[in-house]
Amino acid sequence: MSGMGSHQSAKAIKDEWLTPPEIIKALGCFDLDPCAPVSRPWDTAKHHFTIEDDGLSKEWFGRVWLNPPYGKQTGIWLDRLVNHGNGIALIFARTETRMFFDYVWSKADEILFLKGRLFFHHSNGQKAKFSGGAPSCLIAYGGGNVRSLRTSGLEGKYINIEEKAASKIDKIF
Ligand SMILES: C[S@@+](CC[C@H](N)C(=O)[O-])C[C@H]1O[C@@H](n2cnc3c(N)ncnc32)[C@H](O)[C@@H]1O
Repeated sequence: MSGMGSHQSAKAIKDEWLTPPEIIKALGCFDLDPCAPVSRPWDTAKHHFTIEDDGLSKEWFGRVWLNPPYGKQTGIWLDRLVNHGNGIALIFARTETRMFFDYVWSKADEILFLKGRLFFHHSNGQKAKFSGGAPSCLIAYGGGNVRSLRTSGLEGKYINIEEKAASKIDKIF
């Protein structure tokens, strides 16, 4: 089995890297995971869409948990969450990318840059031997999800995007 670093390469895109369950638990109950494994070792939300349903073709509802498929597709899923307006996404903290500028810096309410690197899980539930190939962050869309992030107890650096913009404007005037 290849390590997490390899799924960053164009050669080896592997989507079945599951969120460490303690992360989801810390964030509270979600209504929908629109991109869940076909066979999952644990629930990530009350309802799940898998690749067999094609989560992008379905209507999303309630509070959404999103750890999307990797690669170019990630932006499409994030765009969908931006439009839905209620949920938390887990993505790599590739802050310089177009995707980050299009769907995170300009659209999210809050970001938590997680301390350290996550160890994702295989679809059989087993924890990967190697940590992810990049740092990860959690992105909140919608006020309730900002609160969930803030009260999650997860370690890292919180950035409130609205607050940042407001404090910058205060300094100018
Ligand atoms: C990075 S994994 C995350 C799994 C799970 N959401 C979690 O947080 O543990 C991405 C998942 O998206 C699924 N997936 C890929 N394309 C999909 C599609 N069109 N519709 C629904 N799920 C899809 C993959 O099978 C994989 O399980």
